[in-house]
Amino acid sequence: MKTGKEMREVGMIENAGVLCEEGNITWVGPMNKCEKELPAEIAEVDASGKVVLPGFVDSHTHMMFAGSRAHEFGLRAEGATYEQIAEQGGGILNTITHVRKAAKRELKRSTARSLLDLLRHGTTTVEIKSGYGLDMDSEIKMLEGINELAEEEIIGIVSTFIGAHAIPPEFKTNPQGYIDLIMQKMIPYVGKKRLAAFCDVFCEKGYFDLQQSELILSEAKKHGMALKLHAEELTPLGGAELAGRLGAASADHLEHITDKGIEALKTGGVVAALLPGVSLFLNHGYAPARKLIDAGVAVAIASDFNPGSCMSFSMPLMMTIACTQMRMTPEEAITAATLNGAAALNLSGSVGSIEVGKQADLVVANIPDYRYLAYHFGTNHISMTIKNGTILEL
Ligand code: NIG
Ligand code: FE
Repeated sequence: MKTGKEMREVGMIENAGVLCEEGNITWVGPMNKCEKELPAEIAEVDASGKVVLPGFVDSHTHMMFAGSRAHEFGLRAEGATYEQIAEQGGGILNTITHVRKAAKRELKRSTARSLLDLLRHGTTTVEIKSGYGLDMDSEIKMLEGINELAEEEIIGIVSTFIGAHAIPPEFKTNPQGYIDLIMQKMIPYVGKKRLAAFCDVFCEKGYFDLQQSELILSEAKKHGMALKLHAEELTPLGGAELAGRLGAASADHLEHITDKGIEALKTGGVVAALLPGVSLFLNHGYAPARKLIDAGVAVAIASDFNPGSCMSFSMPLMMTIACTQMRMTPEEAITAATLNGAAALNLSGSVGSIEVGKQADLVVANIPDYRYLAYHFGTNHISMTIKNGTILEL
């Protein structure tokens, strides 16, 4: 991962070439310096006049869902807040009703359709969370679906268990009963079957408090999962400090992070995964990206693609919002959407940059200058996506 001023170093090479063999990058540099003998059978891509970047790594999504929240979008336009909609049984609970009824194959089919769209927009690795089932069978249905999609190897997928996304209606008067279910049944099963690389918790007022979050995450750690937290999104609860204490890979959202929280992320080497699309969509303020970067925290940006708080998976759009609303430079936004996104998934050794030995995950953008990715927004500039060395027909 890159921190501080290093985040501005994107390592631009003019007239560059990249050689990929068996899915990996084996050479990169200025074309006229390539002395490597090229294999006879090689597919050549002419990217002259274009920009080649590492595929984007979207480290935070809830992109497996069913149903629609367009109605809530309308209500918010009329002034209702995310919290008010949730209090009235909408929000996450609305999506849960639909996901519980959906068959695994339906969830997989609609997610697979979105995955193709992600690839068209340049994302080559994506994290997908459970958390819209909130009972044993439905959480497992989601995680199995996510893992089965991962096995198809069209795009890189990392699965995250977030049973602690909300208290389901049947436990409304007995939230401890649900926490017991997560700790005693769900986590051991998910751990044993290796259904998730990460465990995440919505650490927030009205969802899971600090103590509950710590218990759940500590249990998940014992069962082999790495950790993430939804922290300080709506209120400053101290989730960032908890992420630092537990050695989480990332703390996500952070719209209301405090100075102490920033210090904890820095000390703990935790990636701050910021979600510019959520701030735009919910209009609830932006995370202090400048302060985080200047303090030396590794900042990633992710889409948080989900039906309630960000109905977009476009990483270039997230970069535009990061630059215009959060004062990140275009170079910082690129690092945040690639290498630091990979670090948020513990994958910075294999994806997120164009380096020898890494997976050949590349995007070709039809733009005259890499800054156009964030600068010229609202259109898709990606003309080709290469995943693991394979040129995708999309
Ligand atoms: O990251 N904050 C909690 N979870 C999601 C929202 C999920 C939803 O509203 O369906 C988020 O914003
Ligand atoms: Fe989220």
